[in-house]
Amino acid sequence: MKVLLAASEVAPVIKIGGLGDVIGALPKALEKISVNVDVIVPFFPSAKIEKLELYKSFDLHVPFANKNNVVEVFKTKLPESNVDLYLLKNEEYFVSGGSNFFANNVSETQMFAFFNKSVVEYVKSSFNTYDIVHCNDWHTGLITEMLKDELGNERPRTLFTIHNLNYQGIGGPALLRDTGIVPGEHPLIDWDLADGDLNMMQQGLTSSDHINTVSPSYAKEILTKEFGSGLEDILKSREGRLSGILNGIDYSAQPRNYDINSVAAGKKEAKKALLERLKIDAKYNDAPIFSFVGRIDGFQKGLDILFESLPGLLKSESVFTLLGSGDKKWEEKLLMLSRDKTISDKFSCNIMFDIELANLMYAGSDFLVVPSRYEPCGLIQMIAMWYGTLPIVHNVGGLKDSVTNGVNGFVFNRYSSEALLTSMKEALDVYGTDKMQEMITASMEKDFGWEQSAVEYKKLYERILS
Ligand code: GLC
Repeated sequence: MKVLLAASEVAPVIKIGGLGDVIGALPKALEKISVNVDVIVPFFPSAKIEKLELYKSFDLHVPFANKNNVVEVFKTKLPESNVDLYLLKNEEYFVSGGSNFFANNVSETQMFAFFNKSVVEYVKSSFNTYDIVHCNDWHTGLITEMLKDELGNERPRTLFTIHNLNYQGIGGPALLRDTGIVPGEHPLIDWDLADGDLNMMQQGLTSSDHINTVSPSYAKEILTKEFGSGLEDILKSREGRLSGILNGIDYSAQPRNYDINSVAAGKKEAKKALLERLKIDAKYNDAPIFSFVGRIDGFQKGLDILFESLPGLLKSESVFTLLGSGDKKWEEKLLMLSRDKTISDKFSCNIMFDIELANLMYAGSDFLVVPSRYEPCGLIQMIAMWYGTLPIVHNVGGLKDSVTNGVNGFVFNRYSSEALLTSMKEALDVYGTDKMQEMITASMEKDFGWEQSAVEYKKLYERILS
């Protein structure tokens, strides 16, 4: 079986978010169970290629926007593996990555429509030897229809993985003209266009042979109006071809100075190092430390309920540290709160992206708060548990599938600041008790390695091919 994994990013070469981590780790685990998998991504200028052995393989000629475009195909190996990684280079289109950044007047939807077209040309020029093209999120939503156009019944089968349904990649009708897809020949595209725009996520959902999401619970949630982002009816109509596989985490990327037997001493040291690094007074060395690490996304990540519950939590003798960046409005609000004289000595607000500090926070905190409104999988609650840091999570998606209330973390049901604060107070109650030690042990015993998930993916690929 030969699989091509297509995505907008792949860690550690191009990493923007959790999607990149998945695309960097899943193929390595698949390779170990004898699935032949290649990865294909755009070659953004930000790609970290210093340590790679990279060579130019060949040129693709990609018809797009009424012209013939040259795409250079570079080949390398995914670090620490034998997985072939293809990077597609074109200076007009692949100029930025993932953010809402526009350059050369190329919009994100146009950039990725061009990427989809390039992937299909690549499949053709590699003699159509892939059995499955595994697409990820809206950035790959047009691949299946293009494969149908170019290869008909001879085309590879497709799997479309939803990492985040709320980002859909909506472009104008001109997008279709650029791709060369002829309306009228694709009823599902015509249907989508009827409202005046083309939704690349929707295209991925309607055209692919199978759809999955990154946790079993999220696969059920997106069938409802609350979590379906307007696509719930389409998903319901494809329910028989929709499933969920929980992501794993790559433990080799998470350095740790202690293990389950030395966690008490190891954590004490990490806590001290964290407080020093963040210049928090040593009088808090024994206080419980709560943390938030992640994208500052006011809608998804639960910052509203966190913001409202923080003053309540900080009335107690605890410390809160935060690390992340994103939405400017929320960054400002959080910074303002951290300057409030009554709490400023124990609320450290770090608006930045810093992997080293993130790792220190995972290790040096007692509790990691993940109050997301919705969370397709979420990786940090699993990373926290590896460090013996108890997650406090909203009962949704992958958070629900990885944390058990009172056993290895705290889970609250209602999305509200009161429910979050209640959960944090429960955490304060167990802090320093034997129960806390038991919970830490239970959390560290959990295995979220990629091995199990890779086996599930292999089974799913086999099912799609049969
Ligand atoms: C997206 C989701 C997150 C998931 C990640 C990887 O970033 O928001 O929940 O863990 O993709 O699948």
